[in-house]
Amino acid sequence: MIIKNLTVRFGAFTAVDDVTLEIPDGAIVGLVGESGSGKSTLARAVSGLVPYTGVIEGVDPRRVQMVFQDPLTSLDPRMTIGASVAEGLRLPRAARQAEVERLLTLVSLPVALAERYPRELSGGQRQRVAIARALGVRPALLIADEITSALDVSVQGAVLNLIRSLREEIGLSMLFISHNLAVVRYVSDVVAVMHRGRLVEAGPTEELVKAPSDAYTRSLLDAVPRLGRG
Ligand SMILES: Nc1ncnc2c1ncn2[C@@H]1O[C@H](COP(=O)(O)OP(=O)(O)OP(=O)(O)O)[C@@H](O)[C@H]1O
Ligand SMILES: [Mg+2]
Repeated sequence: MIIKNLTVRFGAFTAVDDVTLEIPDGAIVGLVGESGSGKSTLARAVSGLVPYTGVIEGVDPRRVQMVFQDPLTSLDPRMTIGASVAEGLRLPRAARQAEVERLLTLVSLPVALAERYPRELSGGQRQRVAIARALGVRPALLIADEITSALDVSVQGAVLNLIRSLREEIGLSMLFISHNLAVVRYVSDVVAVMHRGRLVEAGPTEELVKAPSDAYTRSLLDAVPRLGRG
């Protein structure tokens, strides 16, 4: 899919300013930038949740799924995990259980968790459930907005590995948003950098990390701890 000249205004304020960005089929595009740079607003425009000007080609907004930072707010506390994952499935009742089990397995969760409630799961497990739920409708594009930011560092890596394996296994196209360049670098084929509503730079991950052409990208790289730079 391609986003062309996308602009989102809130009154006189321009939150996303003339952004053009391609998300190739089956690729993970990482979107990085400081707080307030317009990342989530861009995501909401692609999902059809805020009005915009410009063109979004090659994806039906009804086939875009978003996963957010805090899965506790997106999972109904009164519903079992199985019921939550089954909710969006357009399948006859009899086929649902098998599909729930397939989805839980896809995100490396034991199928027995289907009987449990969100409060009984760890943050990392809840985030896997949110991803399973989003995958249930077979999205053309998955948008992950700061999905590891609320997690312990110890489980962040496991969720990032899950994202990578989903790209390998099901060829998922994804817009992966984070303010953390080390995290974005780890999962993304392409990195796009936003600054004050504008896309300042985009390119294949390793090229961009090795030779950033934009001063703002260089400042983000300098802020990444040594370990993350590998
Ligand atoms: N509904 C809205 N009405 C007015 N201004 C908004 C609205 N939504 C976002 N903004 C503003 O647009 C700008 C971009 O916000 P956005 O949430 O897209 O940033 P972000 O890059 O996702 O930041 P963060 O990393 O903190 O999540 C901010 O200045 C924000 O205050
Ligand atoms: Mg945001």
